[in-house]
Amino acid sequence: MPFPEKFIDELVERNDIVDVVSGYVRLSKRSGANQFGLCPFHSEKTPSFAVNPEKQIYHCFGCGKGGSVINFIMEIENLGYRDAVAFLARRAGMTMPQEQDDAESRKRARMLALNKDAARFFYEQLSSPGGKRAAEYMARRRISPATAKNFGLGFAPDTWDSLEKAMRQKGYSDFELADAGLVRRGKSGGFYDTFRDRLMFPVIDVRGNVIGFSGRILGDGEPKYMNSPETLVFNKSRNLFALNLAKKSKSGYIILSEGNIDVVSLHQAGFDSAVASLGTSLTPEQARLLSRYTSQVIIAYDNDGAGMKASQRAIGILEKLDVKVKVLQLSGAKDPDEFIKAKGPEAFRKLLEGSETQVDYRLRGVTEKYDLSQDEQKVEFLKEASDLVARLPGPVERQVYAMRVANLAGVPNDVVSAEVERRRKRLVTKASREEERQQERPERQAQPNEKELRYEDPVSARAEEGLIRLLSLEPALGAREDLPEAAAFSSEALGHIYSVLLERLRRHESVSSANLGEALTGPEMSLLVRIQQAPVNLQQGERALEDYIKCIQEHKEQRQQDHAPLDLLALAQKQREKGKRYE
Ligand code: GTP
Ligand code: MN
Repeated sequence: MPFPEKFIDELVERNDIVDVVSGYVRLSKRSGANQFGLCPFHSEKTPSFAVNPEKQIYHCFGCGKGGSVINFIMEIENLGYRDAVAFLARRAGMTMPQEQDDAESRKRARMLALNKDAARFFYEQLSSPGGKRAAEYMARRRISPATAKNFGLGFAPDTWDSLEKAMRQKGYSDFELADAGLVRRGKSGGFYDTFRDRLMFPVIDVRGNVIGFSGRILGDGEPKYMNSPETLVFNKSRNLFALNLAKKSKSGYIILSEGNIDVVSLHQAGFDSAVASLGTSLTPEQARLLSRYTSQVIIAYDNDGAGMKASQRAIGILEKLDVKVKVLQLSGAKDPDEFIKAKGPEAFRKLLEGSETQVDYRLRGVTEKYDLSQDEQKVEFLKEASDLVARLPGPVERQVYAMRVANLAGVPNDVVSAEVERRRKRLVTKASREEERQQERPERQAQPNEKELRYEDPVSARAEEGLIRLLSLEPALGAREDLPEAAAFSSEALGHIYSVLLERLRRHESVSSANLGEALTGPEMSLLVRIQQAPVNLQQGERALEDYIKCIQEHKEQRQQDHAPLDLLALAQKQREKGKRYE
């Protein structure tokens, strides 16, 4: 039995890789996102062992070993996967799953069943006489019955115990209801419904479980929203409202908004990839969750100061995960819901298409900070804006934005360009040492370090690596139907990594290194981490993907031809298909 994903995620979270590695290796030098030290797995004089706290992985540019904190412990303590997990669980004071009695998993299952029954109860209330006001409120907000059904919206009646009674009748106890946050205990010791007279939004996780609820007051009043408390199955910072629906979207991006109503309204208008964080600003866990389903997030927060601040924060968090971010500039409306109602879906689609890249957005942020009619402020502006532009990876992009900065400040282009390039040079020497180090060893790049994994067909293997890299960065690509079979791979190791990855993606499971650790051998894991380290241009993702697929298929056919007994008829047939004449 594999470990539950949640357990592994928590294990990794509670055993920060930098802490764990520091128990064995002195990490000192920092370069870019990595901390470097001397590799404990091979002897060396200059540090090429990198630990990336953001991705929670390590990778040695020298010997090629790499993986999650679990692989590190396996390697250094010479343990198997399960024993390494036990080692880390002990270190973090966690109980191993199989040691926990079944009580907890029974309790979870029961709570999920209760939540589902409660959601059904709320939904049924909508069409009861008592739910008339809620139906009217929805009509006022222009939420259609079909949309209500799609989201499983409901109504919590304006009484103290309707839900409690109904659920008791189904056999749930008050204590179970209280654990699920559906009832509260009053001063006199009795229980009363938590949600009363509210429009109910069930929160459904990516597996389809009802894990909690959000209840909005009908109309004005305080508090506007009530959410389920944290329970055995509900953790606000790790879930997103409507991700269960958005993950099925074909749009290629996810729209992140603030309010439940915004999300409902967006879906109703055809934007089926909208989600909202559950009343908090985007957390790193939510960002990681998002990054499993998309490589592009479009932020559509409320059009106010708080929304702007929250956008900046979200950009920072998402970018670290290599998610492309755009920010929508809503004008003339306070939120997406109001925008769509006032200007219609078409206007919103235009907005989406023209949404600012995060560079524009940031540049605008910098511009608004300074009064450019004042000389000193202009100088400060130039410094900050040049720094921003210097960090852009593409030379053309840098040129374009340098020009824009020059225009904004009213100074000659070459002044800004020179400043940008000066800063760029400094950045490059500082931050890309690791890249250089990698490029110094081209022969290592072409072949895996482990002899037993050596590629027989390096050209095909390169494409196979590329496919694996794209899939692990853009999980949404896993849904494509034209992906090759693992059997078409030339390298057995790559084929195995690919099939494990694809299977997990198709089940919408985490493909973090820690969660993949059990299914992959150590060398395979090292290989995967090395593959993931290589730079990738996600903008060209789809095109690259197609090239990879083509290359893999062609090489497979080539290999079959090379090995098959000579069958002239079949060969002739094949050549005809290719449009060539058989001679
Ligand atoms: P309206 O557009 O005003 O109908 O609501 P909305 O759904 O767009 O919500 P809003 O933009 O006001 O708030 C964004 C999110 O913050 C909501 O979806 C809730 O999750 C959360 N939130 C808002 N008000 C409260 C509150 O009073 N208490 C709690 N706990 N959360 C709230
Ligand atoms: Mn709103």
